[in-house]
Amino acid sequence: MNMNEPGVVLSIDGVVATVLLDRPDVRNAQHPAMWAAIAGFLESLPDEVRIVVVRGASGTFSAGLDLSLVDPGETEVPGSLVATLARSDQEVIDLIGEYQRPFAALADPRFISIAVIDGYAIGAGFQMALACDLRIMAEDAWVCMKEPALGLVPDLAGTKPLVEAVGYGRALEICATARKVGAAEAERIGLAQSVVPSAELDSTLTDLVGSLVAHDATAVRRTHELLAAASSRSLDEQRLAERTAQVGRLRAVLGR
Ligand code: CAA
Repeated sequence: MNMNEPGVVLSIDGVVATVLLDRPDVRNAQHPAMWAAIAGFLESLPDEVRIVVVRGASGTFSAGLDLSLVDPGETEVPGSLVATLARSDQEVIDLIGEYQRPFAALADPRFISIAVIDGYAIGAGFQMALACDLRIMAEDAWVCMKEPALGLVPDLAGTKPLVEAVGYGRALEICATARKVGAAEAERIGLAQSVVPSAELDSTLTDLVGSLVAHDATAVRRTHELLAAASSRSLDEQRLAERTAQVGRLRAVLGR
């Protein structure tokens, strides 16, 4: 398989951009060229785009990191993490920072990102779903933070949204055990906003997108910015941000 090829299909249709992870023969496993392509796409989206959908080809979200990247027998693979370790710690840290770019970009409040999880989202796949604002899951889908089971840590910006979604204790238990979390539990603990039969994922997504773009784009964007920053601000800071945003809204709505 060619890991110089991104293995991702990136498209824009009106206000909706779609990131389709498209390496079905390896269950949409991820690698650096894919992350670079997604980052470049998301960072240059036109302002009209209000929704970013992330999904996987052929009934699977993503089986996570392409394991050939951590195979000591495959150091010639482009992006081999084994080969990368010949560099200094700081260089590796900087490189992982580059790999984290698409995961950070998915949290940009310019748009609302939605992960559509069919099949499973493992490791980097789970972290990509966590990077999205919202998650829709098929009834028989599951997620798994596999990294600790491989002796690694989740390093693709997934720890913060996981703690914020389910709380510290549950996040620790999910990561330390590296267990599978099924869709019903994911919905109950706040990881998934809706769970539907696999055959209804498309219609559920269409309905959700329709509802999310029904109202004024700037009002939704400013509200999104407020909510996204809320957990890192004090109440006083948040109150200031709310009233500052509202001045602009009042002027726009009332024409004064
Ligand atoms: N990387 C590379 N190839 C993968 C892959 C991965 N992550 N996951 C699956 N594949 C390949 C398999 O090797 C297999 O290839 P062949 O047809 O050539 O044999 C093909 O995809 C189909 O896989 P299975 O036959 O295993 O399919 P399955 O439906 O029985 O099982 C699965 C699917 C549960 C995803 C299983 O393949 C699996 O457990 N994969 C590994 C998952 C994993 O550990 N991912 C890494 C997590 S850690 C991370 O992402 C981040 C990090 O470390 C920092």
